Amino acid sequence: MDKLLINGGVSLNGEIRIAGAKNSALPILAATLLTPETVQVCNLPHLFDITTMIELLGCMGVQPVIDEKLNVEVNSSTIKHFSAPYELVKTMRASILVLGPLLTRFGEAEVALPGGCAIGSRPVNLHISALQAMGADVVVVDGYIRASVNGKLKGAHIFMDLVTVTGTENVMMAATLAEGQTIIDNAAREPEVVDLANCLIRMGADINGQGTDTIIINGVSELKGCSYSVMPDRIETGTYLIAAAATRGHIKVKDTRPDILESVLSKLEQAGADIKVGDDWIDLDMHGQRPKAVSLRTAPYPAFPTDMQAQFTALNSVAIGAGAITETVFENRFMHVHEMNRMGASIKVEGNTVFVEGVESLKGAPVMATDLRASASLIIAGLVSENETTVDRIYHIDRGYECIEEKLQLLGAKIRRIPS
Ligand code: UD1
Repeated sequence: MDKLLINGGVSLNGEIRIAGAKNSALPILAATLLTPETVQVCNLPHLFDITTMIELLGCMGVQPVIDEKLNVEVNSSTIKHFSAPYELVKTMRASILVLGPLLTRFGEAEVALPGGCAIGSRPVNLHISALQAMGADVVVVDGYIRASVNGKLKGAHIFMDLVTVTGTENVMMAATLAEGQTIIDNAAREPEVVDLANCLIRMGADINGQGTDTIIINGVSELKGCSYSVMPDRIETGTYLIAAAATRGHIKVKDTRPDILESVLSKLEQAGADIKVGDDWIDLDMHGQRPKAVSLRTAPYPAFPTDMQAQFTALNSVAIGAGAITETVFENRFMHVHEMNRMGASIKVEGNTVFVEGVESLKGAPVMATDLRASASLIIAGLVSENETTVDRIYHIDRGYECIEEKLQLLGAKIRRIPS
């Protein structure tokens, strides 16, 4: 298994480009199943999760074509199976995103039930109950969700008990080809939901209210092909900015969107960063100063994203002062804390809050990644450590960060991949 070897203590300096958003690209690839026409998806990030989604389409009989600019063209008219097997679902929970499109277009779908994962139990009950409200028969047999509908799904008024990102996306996709109107209340407002809605509208869907907590979808009889460019990845953007702030550096990230990072940029300013933004770039300068600890609470968008909580814990671990970080979205998202404490951090977990007392610097150690964003936080911890850190199990990081060691090298970090 590959590892990352980091020699810390270097301030990040320079410019990098941000890739397309993984969490937009995955539902958009699933949405290609809604039409027999060709959908071209541009600005796809080069990530293991994207390969898994392409493989999933492949095992249903849909063969995406990659053109010379690395855009992917998907034509689902060759589909043979309406099933997402456990082997793929267990490596990527977002495989559940094919459930809504398959069911609404073909009247049947089978998706392995995703299990729990390192950050919590993560059920999909809200996806299932919403599709049932739209007239689907859904049973869970032998570890598979089997859904079918006689005729078409029917529009329904759905209230989501919890704000769920992929749940909102699954129902929105299912509703595009349903009979009549669907209203999703307490919908997720995440920018990736808006990006998916914009792609569906380009395909001919009738959707309003995306980006608010009420999304209204009027079903249409068919969708058509289109070309769509995935929005920039706000989590990748935030991760590099936090890494720069933690290392007292100065970086510019390009091809990104400052307007969807407000909660994160405001915390970085509180940490002492001098931030300038343009339409598609963000410049962060710490003027060589040590960051100040910040307190924050994760919640659905537009509040502070859970996917950036671990990285801020790493920043706080070497900051001046103390900060409290409360996680309200997932129940078990602090696996990185124990690894950081092994590196000399002073962090206590109490319930769903971590209390971080900043120390001058961490000490390098061999550490193990447990999930995608925890891996990113351990890399940041390695960058602010004296001596050498090795991060093991980095397949997690390759799921969500494109060429992370190359991008960090461009910013001056001493980091390299050691093949197993
Ligand atoms: C998505 C993102 C993930 C991010 C998360 C929260 C993708 C591919 N992944 O995950 O990076 O961390 O949003 O912003 O977009 N829940 C239920 N029942 C359900 C569905 C969800 O109880 O049927 C709970 C979950 O366990 C969790 C909370 O709702 O506690 C939010 O989860 P959700 O928004 O669904 O996360 P994902 O869509 O899986």
